[in-house]
Formats: sequence, structure tokens, C-alpha cells
Amino acid sequence: MSQKDFFGHKSTIFYQVVKDLNEAVMITDKNSKLVYVNPAWEKIYEYSIDEILGKSPKVISSGFHDEKFYSEMWNSILDPNKRYWQGEVINKSKTGKLIPVLLSISYFCEPNEEFEGFIGIALNLTESKQLQAQVLHQDRLASIGMFASGLAHEIGTPLGVIRGRAELLSIYVQDETTKNTLQIIITQIDRISKLIESLLKITRSSSDLNLKSISYKDVVLEVCSFIERDLKKNDITLDVKDLLDEKVMADYNRCEQIILNFVTNAIYAINVVKKSNPKHQGVLKFSTKVNLNQVELIVSDNGCGISKENLKKLFQPFFTTKEVGEGTGLGLAIVSKLIYEMHGSVRVESEENMGSSFIISLPKA
Ligand SMILES: Nc1ncnc2c1ncn2[C@@H]1O[C@H](COP(=O)(O)OP(=O)(O)OP(=O)(O)O)[C@@H](O)[C@H]1O
Ligand SMILES: [Mg+2]
Repeated sequence: MSQKDFFGHKSTIFYQVVKDLNEAVMITDKNSKLVYVNPAWEKIYEYSIDEILGKSPKVISSGFHDEKFYSEMWNSILDPNKRYWQGEVINKSKTGKLIPVLLSISYFCEPNEEFEGFIGIALNLTESKQLQAQVLHQDRLASIGMFASGLAHEIGTPLGVIRGRAELLSIYVQDETTKNTLQIIITQIDRISKLIESLLKITRSSSDLNLKSISYKDVVLEVCSFIERDLKKNDITLDVKDLLDEKVMADYNRCEQIILNFVTNAIYAINVVKKSNPKHQGVLKFSTKVNLNQVELIVSDNGCGISKENLKKLFQPFFTTKEVGEGTGLGLAIVSKLIYEMHGSVRVESEENMGSSFIISLPKA
């Protein structure tokens, strides 16, 4: 039965309503074979109606839920006193995207019992889950920030005294070994001070925020002019041909800091590949995309990419895959805070050994 046939002799208004609904709708017969899915369903799950009709909704199951979960679901749907189930489910689209949805399933039967089956309505929770995660993340950053500002004060003063004394001593001593040792002390103190400074960036208030209409293109081109020499030195090609002149409401200086962070990470990732393959031609690409009332800036590289496991930890403070002493793991945590304060969001798409794309989304000006 085709989807049109399914509604064929039914009200055309009813058909139109279901078809235009923003929520994904699927209807199965009593043997759980799909007889209809609406366009919203096709969009979320990335299957076309033609390839899905007659199949079981199991094609969108993610393997996330156990048998007990499904048996409780079906007990409720088949219970003559309920005929209904509602709950949060994680589905999987055709291309493997995990999609959290609020799913409601009801049993239905035509009065003449000609057709009985099940109707499922799924509300896509992807965005609200991302928002929740972002708020939680910002909360954690705020507590780290509070802890850091206390610590900065307590540690900063004695550190300054130690550094001063070490510098003084190094003027008086003649012995080269002692001089070198003192220099090591000073370098290590500077490292701690830099770390404290980074932690303080997380706590710094957003009162200095200067939101105005700016162009991603201007910021990117300016940052690229700073790093031109670095790119040349590392033999990295810059691609800005898909960079449009779209305007966003943002703080120019913060955007500079954000882009510089992404670029630094990208250069590092490209160099990781170059270590094992010196002929690898690095590419750093900037592009823009308008998405409803947001404009996205996509910063892509063909560096080492990020494993699925690490993707989950990327924006957590102190997460780094760099050698001890090489990175603080605070770059992306700070960047996400800066973007969040400008009412934007950031996400990443990456595949190990292929490269990464960081997508910054800010409100259109
Ligand atoms: N473009 C990228 N390609 C591959 N991995 C990346 C990329 N950007 C970030 N990462 C991964 O995310 C980790 C965290 O990045 P983040 O900028 O927060 O800290 P870091 O670069 O390690 O340290 P710091 O920024 O202090 O130098 C990196 O160590 C790296 O593993
Ligand atoms: Mg970094």
C-alpha cells in the first residue's frame, strides 16, 4: 500500500494536517510494517518514503535501549486500558546520526475494524538536549572560574615573590649550573602564571562585551593576516573562497580570539599528520552558511581529526591530547564560554584521520 493509498479514501484535510505537521509521524499496520511516514519524519530520519514503506520501524532503532525497555513500551501500548506509551527514545537516522526524541505511540482501530495499527509521533529533542548540555557546561565553567579566581589570588602573590627572588639570585650567582637552575624555576613559574591567567579568562565577566554588527569575513581575513607567516612556514593552504560577507551580532575582539584558537588547533592537528606523512598538504578552510536567523562560520582542517571518544570531552576544561606542558586544554573551554555569552553556539564534526570542522553559530545582524 502506498502512503497516498493509505489515506486514499480518508479525509483530505486529515491527510494535509498530518503531512504538514512539524513533528515526525509514522503509521504502521498491526504487524508493525510502516504504511505511512510524513515529510517531517523523512527529514529527521533521512529515509525517503519509498524506501521505508513496508519496513519495520526497527530500522531507526539505535541499539541504545534494552529489551526490557521495549517490552514495557509494548505492554503499555497493548494494554486495553491504556493503548498508549510516551517516553524519550534515542533513534538513529539513515546516516547514523543519533536523534533523541519524545515519542508517543497510540494504538488505533477503524470503527469497522477494517484497519488497525499504531501511530507514532516523534518530537525531535536534539536542539533542547544540546541547549541543556551547553547550560550544564557553562555552569561547570562558572564553578571552575570561581575556584580559579580564589586560587589566583592565593597563589599569585607567593609566586610573584618566588619569581622575584629567583631573578635576583640569578644576577648574583656566577656559577652557570645554578644560573640555569634558577632560569628553570622562572620558566616554570611563568607556566603556572599562564595557566592561572587562562583559568581567569573563564571567570571574567561578560560586562566588557561589545555586541555590534560585524562581518565574519573581516575578522577571518584579519586573523589570517596575523598568521600568514605561520601558515607559510607550515606549508598550509588557506581557502576562503566560500567565505561570504554575512553580518552577525558579535564582539569583534572576542571573535578574533575565538578564530585564533581554532586556527592554532587546526595548525597543530595538521602538523600531527605531517609528522608521519611529511608530504601531507595541509588545508585550512573558512566558509559561511546562513541558517534561518543564525550565520554559521565553519573552520575546517584536514588534520588528524578527533576520535569519537574524544569528541565527547572536547569542550571540557583541561582536556588535551598534547604532551604535558604543551597545552592547557583550556582553549576550547574558553572559546565555548565566549561564544555562549554572545548568544551563539559551537559544535564540531570530525572524523579520525580525515580532519575536523568547528561550526560557530551566531545571531544574524
Ligand atoms: N582542529 C582540531 N583537530 C584535531 N583535534 C583537535 C582540534 N581542535 C582541538 N582538538 C583536540 O581538542 C583538544 C583540546 O583543545 P583545546 O584547544 O581546548 O586545548 P589544547 O589545544 O590541547 O591546549 P591549548 O589550547 O591550551 O594549547 C586538543 O588537545 C586536541 O586533542
Ligand atoms: Mg588549543
